[in-house]
Amino acid sequence: MPLENMKGMLGAAREGGYAVGAFNILDYNSTKAVIDAAEQLYAPVIIQTSAKTVIFWGTWAIISWVKKLEWSSKVPIALHLDHCKDLRLIAECIEAGWSSVMIDASAKPFEENLSLSRQVVEMARPKNVTVEAELGAIVGVEDDIHVKEQDAHLADPEQAIKFCKEVDPDCFAPAIGTAHGVYKGVPKIAYDRLEEIAGKTPIPIALHGGTGLADDVFKKCISLGCAKVNISTQLKYAFIDGFVEYHNAHNTQYNPLKVIEAQYEALIAGIIENINLFGSAGKA
Ligand code: 13P
Repeated sequence: MPLENMKGMLGAAREGGYAVGAFNILDYNSTKAVIDAAEQLYAPVIIQTSAKTVIFWGTWAIISWVKKLEWSSKVPIALHLDHCKDLRLIAECIEAGWSSVMIDASAKPFEENLSLSRQVVEMARPKNVTVEAELGAIVGVEDDIHVKEQDAHLADPEQAIKFCKEVDPDCFAPAIGTAHGVYKGVPKIAYDRLEEIAGKTPIPIALHGGTGLADDVFKKCISLGCAKVNISTQLKYAFIDGFVEYHNAHNTQYNPLKVIEAQYEALIAGIIENINLFGSAGKA
C-alpha cells in the first residue's frame, strides 16, 4: 500500500474515538518493528522521524527503508517529520517523499508561530502532504528542542482556536501538561483546556509526551479528542535495553543478528501494547 498522509487516518480516529500511534523510529530495525506491529494488529500507523534522525541518516536512507516495507504492507502508513523548526529541512522531506510534516514554531511569539505554520501549510498542501503545528511549550527534551520547566506553558484556548482557524493545520498539538522524556512525578494534565479546545475545533489533536503516561490518562485524552499519540522515549529505551540485555545474557556469543533480533522483539512488544491501548487495532 503506498504511503498516505495523516488526513484520512486521523479524521477517522477523531470521529471514531481512538488514536493512531506515532512512533519515532531510529533505523531500519525500528521502522520494521513499527510496521510489523501495525500489520499484526491491522492498525493504521505513523512512522515518525525526528529532525536529528533525518540529518543523521539523510532522507534517502529513511525513504528507502519505509518504501521497502510499505510496498508489501496492507495497512495505511504515514511518514511524518516530528518537531521541526527548519523550513529548509521541511521542504527537503516533502521533496524526498514524507507524507506529513510538523512545524514547531512554538518558541516564537504567537503571530510569528502563526505565520511560519501557515507558510508550511502553503508549502505542503499542494503536494498532498499533511501538517501538524504546535502551540504552547511542551516541557522536556525532544531532539534538539529543549524546554525547561520554568519556560513551559500551556496553550491558551482562545489563541488555540484563532491558530486553528488561521493556520488550518491537519493536526494540532496544544501543550496541555504532558512532557517529552521521562516524567519526574505524576503529570498534571489540563483536561479542561483539552476539552475546551477540542470542543471548538474538529481538527484532530496530537498528544505529545506519550512515554510514561498511565493507561487512564491516554484513554481520557483520546476520549476528549486526541487522535494521534506520540511515543519516542519508550522506543529509545527498548532499542538500547533490548540490545544490551541480550548481550549481557549471552556475552560470549558475539552474534550481531541475534542481538538485532532481540532488539526488534523488545521494540515490537511495546508498540503492540500501545496500539492496543490507543484503540486503533482493527481500524486499518
Ligand atoms: P516521549 O518521548 O515522551 O514519548 O514523547 C514523544 C513525542 O511527543 C515526540 O514528539
